[in-house]
Amino acid sequence: MKFFVDTADVAEIRELADAGLLDGVTTNPSLIKKANRPMRDIVAEICDVVEGPVSAEVTALETAEMIREGKILAGIADNVCIKLPLTLDGLKACKELTGEGFLVNVTLCFSAVQALMAAKAGATFISPFIGRLDDINLDGMELIADIRRIYDNYGFDTEILAASIRTINHVREAALIGADVATVPPSTLKALVKHPLTDKGLDQFLADWKATGQSIA
Ligand code: E4P
Repeated sequence: MKFFVDTADVAEIRELADAGLLDGVTTNPSLIKKANRPMRDIVAEICDVVEGPVSAEVTALETAEMIREGKILAGIADNVCIKLPLTLDGLKACKELTGEGFLVNVTLCFSAVQALMAAKAGATFISPFIGRLDDINLDGMELIADIRRIYDNYGFDTEILAASIRTINHVREAALIGADVATVPPSTLKALVKHPLTDKGLDQFLADWKATGQSIA
């Protein structure tokens, strides 16, 4: 499973990239608002730090304008992945842009048939939003499982990018189902390596080692 980080905070991205934990980055207009800096600067800096796909979202609603904005974003760096909303206009833009060789992430997916349509439009990534479905008492993980099954049934190579992840368990379940990628907030990504028994065991080992009076060096 590939790990993308879901943030526009360049300092956090740098820290995770230095640890060798990042395969890509996703941003969205809300994350750009939170970062409170020009989008172009943010995307350029992230693309310098991370080699994998960096999703940057268009804000136009009509196909021709989405394509125009998408190409501007893709002009920032070779690894920009154009993020388009899952609308009819978005899928038309997706077909055109992937046909020209651009990377496209179709976002705001909330149903399996939407994901099927995005794959037919040639999407590089489909982003089903797990957490936002759970928020309204629907089963976000069931959606990931349905999309996996449909894509495998027909041999679509669109990658399932599990998004709107809120918990460590979301990552575990998405990995068990076979999502290709998880995009995870920085705090959750760091929490994936934590376990209280690891900390407890390490404390014990270090105390016992100290008691031996030995040194490896
Ligand atoms: C994915 O690309 C989105 O930016 C993100 O996962 C949305 O997550 P949220 O529902 O926590 O805002």
